[in-house]
Amino acid sequence: MNIEVSAGTPFAIPDGVFAQQVTLVEHYTDRLFRFRITRPASFRFRSGEFVMIGLPNAERPVFRAYSIASPSWDDEIEFYSIKVPDGPLTEHLQKIREGDTVLMRRKATGTLVNDALLPGKRVYMFSTGTGIAPFASLIRDPETYEKFEQVILCHTCREVAELDYGKRLVASLAADEIVGEMVGRQLVHYTSVTRDDYPVRGRQTNLMASGKMFADLGVPAIHPDHDRGMICGSMDMLRDTKAALEAYGLTEGSNSAPGTFVVERAFVD
Ligand code: A2P
Repeated sequence: MNIEVSAGTPFAIPDGVFAQQVTLVEHYTDRLFRFRITRPASFRFRSGEFVMIGLPNAERPVFRAYSIASPSWDDEIEFYSIKVPDGPLTEHLQKIREGDTVLMRRKATGTLVNDALLPGKRVYMFSTGTGIAPFASLIRDPETYEKFEQVILCHTCREVAELDYGKRLVASLAADEIVGEMVGRQLVHYTSVTRDDYPVRGRQTNLMASGKMFADLGVPAIHPDHDRGMICGSMDMLRDTKAALEAYGLTEGSNSAPGTFVVERAFVD
């Protein structure tokens, strides 16, 4: 396929890549924003997966893995992104506007999917920073609520303002036609902050170790018989949260061998 993106853009779209239009851009802080693009009719993915995205601004565009933040039934695709000052992709991506073109590779993949978890009573979604993105997809998917009685979305950020995306999303779900009722009964949003004043302070790993998280939630400590985990954040957060879940007796799963927790990293440089 060799299509000119637009008059004045001299670069052709690489093979195996969709060129989609930006439909919405919303900035939260000077470090965080979300954007939505049109969805190609033939693009299929499972809620929680990621895809490679780039911009048509070079002969060989830079692509980075981005978790899809919208659910698999949505007719648009949403992404939630950090802005890195000299990041090869995000320094340009943060300037996109409605109507601009974003490139997206055709195949979505990933392990933060319901299929990679064994059935259980309760699923914990552990996220820090933009690691909430795959869970923004999963908490909008009815399948998540059909598989688990309780869905606990844990989100920790350095500053209070960085929780806004998740808070606004969860608040909006009460009126959602598809999952609204299930969200009201089954979803708990547990937020904490590490570098600002906030009702719950500290890293999730420490809040689990002290027992505060379970006391706040009114649930017993994590047990492999009934609890499941999904983890998304920085490399250090993934490592430490994985170690914590293993200490509770959970074992990592994958698409081919479902387990009691799954891990993925979805951050850009
Ligand atoms: P902290 O402020 O104590 O470093 P980052 O922007 O660096 O990815 O951090 C996002 C959030 O994740 C911050 O609240 C940060 O806490 C927390 N965090 C960073 N590293 C870890 C880790 N190894 N385990 C758990 N939480 C972490």
